[in-house]
Amino acid sequence: MTKDIEFWNKLAPKYAQSKISDMAAYEYTLERTRHYLRPDQRVLELGCGTGTTALALAPSVATYDATDAAQAMIDIGNQKKQDAGQTNLTLFQSMDVPMTPGDAPYDCILAFNFLHLVQDQDRVFQNIYDRLKPGGLFISKTFCMPRDLWAVPIFAMRAVLPILTHLGKAPNVHFITMPKWDAKISKAGFNIIETGAYPLSPPRRFVVARKPA
Ligand SMILES: C[S@@+](CC[C@H](N)C(=O)[O-])C[C@H]1O[C@@H](n2cnc3c(N)ncnc32)[C@H](O)[C@@H]1O
Repeated sequence: MTKDIEFWNKLAPKYAQSKISDMAAYEYTLERTRHYLRPDQRVLELGCGTGTTALALAPSVATYDATDAAQAMIDIGNQKKQDAGQTNLTLFQSMDVPMTPGDAPYDCILAFNFLHLVQDQDRVFQNIYDRLKPGGLFISKTFCMPRDLWAVPIFAMRAVLPILTHLGKAPNVHFITMPKWDAKISKAGFNIIETGAYPLSPPRRFVVARKPA
């Protein structure tokens, strides 16, 4: 198990208890995402944590698979699923994007507060592309750098994070600005159809992108 996954496994009980920091931004992200969901769709969510968003969105679609690298997150998610009686939701442990050969493609792949944490983003983008149907949607919200790279909190975070990561007290994080992030998604072959930032500061870039039909 990598240090990062060990970090997330240890954090899981605390993460499950933590409050959503900006509820208005969270609700708006859900609203914009639901706009694209349909009752006949097969959906996959990556880096689902303890399944809060999965439980909120699963009622809008036919089937909803939710994956996370940390088994402790999945265990808590499964308990929440059982308590809620949500029958079309399946949570399972998987690193990055589950790539079982022969599996049917998805109509929609979601990734919230996750992609800034993956090591090989280009490979993950490729895998997301491959697991989507032609015309399928890739909807993500990702921590990005503010325009002012010298803003004190970000500067401090970038200085301290490598030490915390080395000590196993924080995960690896990619720092990228919103224009560069959007460009990366386009370069992976997707057509961007909606963008936003919820919240705006520090930016969590919301991008709805479509795989060409
Ligand atoms: C910041 S949390 C976000 C959880 C949830 N999506 C949310 O918005 O609350 C990041 C999640 O990504 C998971 N994660 C980190 N790296 C991963 C990887 N390479 N593959 C799959 N999951 C990963 C962690 O275990 C953690 O649950």
